[in-house]
Amino acid sequence: MATSAGIAVITGAGSGIGRATALALYADGFSVVLAGRRREMLEETATIAKATPPRMLVVPTDVTDPTSIASLFDTITAAYGRIDLLFNNAGTSTRNIPIEDLTLEQWSNVVAVNLTGAFLCARHAFRMMKNQRPRGGRIINNGSVSAHVPRRNSTAYAATKHALTGLTRSLSLDGREYDIACGQIDIGNAATARNEDTARGRLQASGKVEPEARIDVNDVARGVAYMASLSLEANVQFMTVMATKMPYIGRG
Ligand SMILES: NC(=O)c1ccc[n+]([C@@H]2O[C@H](COP(=O)([O-])OP(=O)(O)OC[C@H]3O[C@@H](n4cnc5c(N)ncnc54)[C@H](OP(=O)(O)O)[C@@H]3O)[C@@H](O)[C@H]2O)c1
Repeated sequence: MATSAGIAVITGAGSGIGRATALALYADGFSVVLAGRRREMLEETATIAKATPPRMLVVPTDVTDPTSIASLFDTITAAYGRIDLLFNNAGTSTRNIPIEDLTLEQWSNVVAVNLTGAFLCARHAFRMMKNQRPRGGRIINNGSVSAHVPRRNSTAYAATKHALTGLTRSLSLDGREYDIACGQIDIGNAATARNEDTARGRLQASGKVEPEARIDVNDVARGVAYMASLSLEANVQFMTVMATKMPYIGRG
């Protein structure tokens, strides 16, 4: 059942970086499990790839729901019996809400998707990777340059993306004895639907609103595909892929 490259699972595979990465991994020979809430978006990814099960499998999943995640991994076990790669990509943010106005509900939703969802998926994958034969696998977390430095008014997003770095380091350390590698890709300004406003104008540290450079999602997907292509003896611990001219280096 398994292809030579193995079984990859991508959360948030129905759009943006998740979709581009699904197409790149599929082209590299992975069988790709597409997870996310909107079935029609996942199916569109499979249609673009002209792929059918088992090379691509659509599994509608809400990463804020532990039961839904358990069901995703039950489906993977039944269909393939193993997992070689988890790309924890699903993510969300609030837009430009100052901390004094950020509600607990808004905060909790960002934590549930970006951090707790990634933890729960990683825990399922870790258990499978530890016990399967051949043993091991790879987990790649989608961080952000917001895992290094925040934007203005992005408390929940910046906090969860910083926390993901801790998750990545912990999984890397604890995974060593089971041949589980864990790395993180930190993206800056990939052109997706959720950051179209970045091209028009985003609030800068200075208080000015200015447009920023963005990059093609395929530049990111190729980075993830490279990380995924390595043998388990090698790991890209952190990779930053960002728009060359975006305000990040040099404090602006
Ligand atoms: N674009 C950038 O410049 C950039 C920069 C740094 C980091 N990132 C990170 O890259 C990741 C993907 O972002 P993107 O730019 O590609 O935006 P996007 O197109 O909005 O992708 C987010 C994906 O997450 C899924 N998702 C959201 N909530 C979910 C939930 N509860 N359960 C399951 N899936 C859920 C969405 O699918 P459904 O709505 O169908 O569930 C969607 O496919 C995020 O983690 C983001 O933080 C992006």
